[in-house]
Amino acid sequence: MTRENVKIGLFGYGCVGQGLHDVLNSSKGFKADIVRICVKDRTKKRRISMDHFTFDKDEILNDPSINLVVELIDDADEAFNIVTAAMKNGKNVVSANKMMIAKHFKELVDMQAKYKVSMLYEASAGASIPIIRNLEEYYDNELLYSLRGILNGTTNYILTKMHNEGLPYDEALREAQHKGFAESDPTLDVEGWDAKYKLCIITGHAYGLFLNPDEVFHFGINKISKFDIQYAKEKGFKIKLVPYVGKTSEKTITNFVLPRFISSDKYLYNVDNEYNGIITEAAFADKQFFSGKGAGGHATGSAVLSDISANSYGYRYEYKKFQQGTISNYTRDHKLEVYLRYNDEKDRELFGFEEVSEYFSGRFNKYVIGVVNLKNLYAIREQLRDMDVFIVNTGRKV
Ligand code: HSE
Repeated sequence: MTRENVKIGLFGYGCVGQGLHDVLNSSKGFKADIVRICVKDRTKKRRISMDHFTFDKDEILNDPSINLVVELIDDADEAFNIVTAAMKNGKNVVSANKMMIAKHFKELVDMQAKYKVSMLYEASAGASIPIIRNLEEYYDNELLYSLRGILNGTTNYILTKMHNEGLPYDEALREAQHKGFAESDPTLDVEGWDAKYKLCIITGHAYGLFLNPDEVFHFGINKISKFDIQYAKEKGFKIKLVPYVGKTSEKTITNFVLPRFISSDKYLYNVDNEYNGIITEAAFADKQFFSGKGAGGHATGSAVLSDISANSYGYRYEYKKFQQGTISNYTRDHKLEVYLRYNDEKDRELFGFEEVSEYFSGRFNKYVIGVVNLKNLYAIREQLRDMDVFIVNTGRKV
């Protein structure tokens, strides 16, 4: 395969843009020119000469010498406008924008076919872990039962600091922001949105369903208390935010994002700080575990570089599971065993527990462990925002 000379128009020069620049500069075997960098803020001091910068996106989108648009901004709507215009102009795209991809997944897949261009986005899920390419290439004909893991570095960093060092939640979050792991709006991380967008992207490649993220239940870690950490520690668990997708029958899958108890004999137990970890379970390959840095400029930049390089060899996603069409249904009718820490009995009633195996009512805290249906959690998703509750998937089979 011949390699195309890569002329890049880069959008965004924040944490990931600068990370990519460093990674490109240090790469020995691969050369690509960043012809122009488009940024929004005219006043911000940049660490490299301003010669390459522009504030006008058309200077990249209409430049025929640029054959690859690398989109690394954090405004999902503007990112969608940029990649749409780039593809219409016949340019290939590399993006790390999980919110944009998850929200417009099918449109982006269709546009690639319509305009005969390629869009790669390995950095959008799991950052440095090459999970999308693995799902596309290695798992193309595998009977994949399920995939679960840690897909958000910020929440994993916070949970690690709270568990290992007893750091308060706010302080741990500030550290994660300071280290460049968090989104500009960190509620996207701590409320579980970011993990959900990544899960939707993974679901598209693992099972060929392009789900609207609004259809998927998510619950983050922003309501965690010292009591929850203490409870987990006493039982020998760590709490991790674990998105899950898996088959419920031959043609049907479910998926969701929930905190999960992890015991010390499990792979994810030692996936700490900003690291991500992904476990796949399949018929023939059986269980596999992937781990790597899931956030940060250089880790994410390395995945972007890998896409830029793959693009230069003509690589494109085939969306093989979508083409095969084996999975046709999505369900939320799925039972889970959860730990629910709560205050108000009325809140607990809304969960519709089917079976209860443990119940505790102390002066300041109450919890219950029992079986709930995912469709009930989804039905009360709006109310959950205002409730003083914390939910953890125990991970036990029901
Ligand atoms: N805020 C994201 C995270 C960045 O913490 O995982 C990487 O996608």
